[in-house]
Amino acid sequence: MTSELLPLAQLAPDELLLVEAARAAAERAYCRYSKYAVGAAVVSETGRVFCGCNVENASYGATMCAERSAIFGLVSAGERHITKVCVYAPGEPMAMPCGICRQVIAEFCLDALVLVAGPRGVLRRRFAELLPEAFRLAVEEEA
Ligand code: THU
Repeated sequence: MTSELLPLAQLAPDELLLVEAARAAAERAYCRYSKYAVGAAVVSETGRVFCGCNVENASYGATMCAERSAIFGLVSAGERHITKVCVYAPGEPMAMPCGICRQVIAEFCLDALVLVAGPRGVLRRRFAELLPEAFRLAVEEEA
């Protein structure tokens, strides 16, 4: 996997900005239990960027991942579609989105570019590679 790492210097300017937004969000992580900081930046179909960080809790199960923090902000702002997701962890290992976050991403995109980033570089993935055959319910669209 390390061989697929793209150095940050080789990223397109808009993707580099997204990585920087996720990196800055990771600085705000509340991770006193794991000491593993994560930041996320998600882009809506209208081009707005929403950031989030992991927020841990003494009752470990109440912890929220960075990706979902960012996505819930996007939805709370009235957006409904995700086009890009960037997750940044300053430490090791790189933060591949967890299974719950993948399912939440699936709710709001048909496909998206996923950037998994860290100080060593970036992995680029299509969301469908990370969660093929995602579970979705067919329902009538909201009015
Ligand atoms: N975490 C995230 O925020 N995103 C991921 O993709 C992986 C894991 C957080 C949850 C927890 O606060 C810490 O990383 C260690 O699992």
